[in-house]
Amino acid sequence: MEELRTLIRQTMQENQREVSGHFYTVPSPVRYPFQWLWDSCFHALIYSALDETNLAKKELLSVCEKQHQSGLIPHISFWHDEKNPLPNWGRELRGGDINHIFGVTGSSSLTQPPLLAEVVLEVYKKTGDADFLKKIYPALVQFYEYLNSERTAENSLLFIVNPDESGEDNSPRFDKALGLLSKHSKEENLDKRLYLMEKLVACDFDTKTCMKENFAVIDVGFNCVYLSGLEALSTIAEILKEKDTSKTYANRAKEVQTDMKTLTTDNIHYYSFDHIAKEMISINTWNLFMPLYCGLLNQSEAEKLVQELFADDNFMASYGIRTFSKQGNGYDAIDGFWRGPVWMAPNYFIQQGLLRYGFKKEADKIKDLSINLIKNSGMREHYDPDSGTGYGAEKFTWAGLVLVM
Ligand code: GLC
Repeated sequence: MEELRTLIRQTMQENQREVSGHFYTVPSPVRYPFQWLWDSCFHALIYSALDETNLAKKELLSVCEKQHQSGLIPHISFWHDEKNPLPNWGRELRGGDINHIFGVTGSSSLTQPPLLAEVVLEVYKKTGDADFLKKIYPALVQFYEYLNSERTAENSLLFIVNPDESGEDNSPRFDKALGLLSKHSKEENLDKRLYLMEKLVACDFDTKTCMKENFAVIDVGFNCVYLSGLEALSTIAEILKEKDTSKTYANRAKEVQTDMKTLTTDNIHYYSFDHIAKEMISINTWNLFMPLYCGLLNQSEAEKLVQELFADDNFMASYGIRTFSKQGNGYDAIDGFWRGPVWMAPNYFIQQGLLRYGFKKEADKIKDLSINLIKNSGMREHYDPDSGTGYGAEKFTWAGLVLVM
């Protein structure tokens, strides 16, 4: 484990950047040269585990710096000054201008799973630093208020306006809503997402009208993270003696918990919902196991779901949890990106969910598989579930999540 810590520490150090006093960590030096929202949350957890809480705090504060007037915290922040020009990011944008593709300069206009409050609370618990908490609190409240006022449709649940907001850019959960068949190329997928982006820019990201006409999915994973975030925010408000606010978020969390029931017909399997087509998205991705993370199940429901996870190799593989069921149409273990390969964040969320329900042995198994993966293949973006070979971005920070498992 010491060797692993050293590798993770070194990679984090190599990926650290400071631009005009703003500290952040890039997920991967070449492939992902900016600051990403949920990546920064993972980084803060990893820094805490490495006893580098000062870096955790700095990273979280700078991710809030580019908060939009609306309260949205962007999923990508572009930090640059004269000494650090913006890198050319041709792969995703096909030569487009990164600083304008999202309709604003300096950041994107999308967001990512709202893990922020939970991570802030974790860092506070480790440091007891009330000044940090006070400093970041207004940004947190504005962010969760934005989500509640701009991203709710039929009830308290949130919709996302682009697959990238889920953190799983090309997940098969979004195929139909994007107008794609199950089998399509990465290029086709990207084309659809870029086209969607153009439409969002054209309508100036006006959530209440045109976002709902283009793409609006009430995503299980996103809402699960939101629920845990609301609970954390309620605790943070209580620590800061903001009693009424604390109550507001506790109530909102309860409401979300109740409304999540609209995403299940058997109280065990939860599916995302296409708000525009008004239909359940019955596609089996790793998100099926997210309800463990945010505590939607009772103990016997959880037991059934965990049994399913370990019963066959639909999801469980020799090297971790597949992001898409092996039986799924269009499953691709090597080149699929979010359509099969193992990623460290899903391993982490599911491992935490297993612990939450007392499945220690099973949680340890996921942890061991994850450690094994890094030992064999290094810190890569994703891995072949059956051979453990690493693919995608190199020096990818998420592998550091094993330290918090
Ligand atoms: C990819 C991932 C996304 C992540 C980003 C930066 O786009 O799908 O979840 O935030 O890379 O690491």
